[in-house]
Amino acid sequence: MYKDTFRTLVKRLLKHISPKEKEQFLVDITKHLYETEWWEQADTIGITISRNIELDTDPIIQQAWKQNKAVVIPKCYPEDDHRMEFYQYTNKHELENVFLDLYEPKKDLNKLVQPQEIDLLIVPGLLFDYDGFRIGYGGGYYDRFLENFLNHKISLAMEQQLVKHIPRDQYDLPVDAIITEKSIYTI
Ligand SMILES: Nc1ncnc2c1ncn2[C@@H]1O[C@H](COP(=O)(O)OP(=O)(O)OP(=O)(O)O)[C@@H](O)[C@H]1O
Ligand SMILES: [Mg+2]
Repeated sequence: MYKDTFRTLVKRLLKHISPKEKEQFLVDITKHLYETEWWEQADTIGITISRNIELDTDPIIQQAWKQNKAVVIPKCYPEDDHRMEFYQYTNKHELENVFLDLYEPKKDLNKLVQPQEIDLLIVPGLLFDYDGFRIGYGGGYYDRFLENFLNHKISLAMEQQLVKHIPRDQYDLPVDAIITEKSIYTI
């Protein structure tokens, strides 16, 4: 329940940050991201198509393509034990609007990518702590996915999305690092 309270509060906070401000935060965050070895060495990047209140992931996807990296995006299966699969993403026409402002890849088995092929996974979330724990959007999709994911996993956030400690449930799994506009917090 505490997680839902935080979700409501953080969503409200994110709604009040203007697109212009978010754009500037993103510029500073990605500047750090692109300098990391995780980014430089990754051939395949796992990332979401951002929703309206989030930091826009499109510039990151464009940058990955520019650097000849493969981009893979998740498809969630709410009716199949909140499983998540990643698919190759090469252009906008491959997207399907599944709910409100939520976009996912169409199911195309030729484009299915196995977890071990993803070198760097950018894990979305609303609130984070310095140990890498997070409150996501509440589906438990990433917690389940991370159980079998051994490569690098990081999150991008604004400093105002960072708190000292997030109470954790036994199934919550931390990311390896959080990159903000100010710093890279390696866990
Ligand atoms: N590994 C798991 N196995 C079974 N159920 C899980 C697992 N991880 C999470 N869940 C379930 O998913 C629900 C949502 O978890 P939680 O509130 O931590 O979501 P979240 O971390 O915000 O979501 P996400 O991981 O998609 O970002 C919980 O009620 C929990 O029971
Ligand atoms: Mg969780």
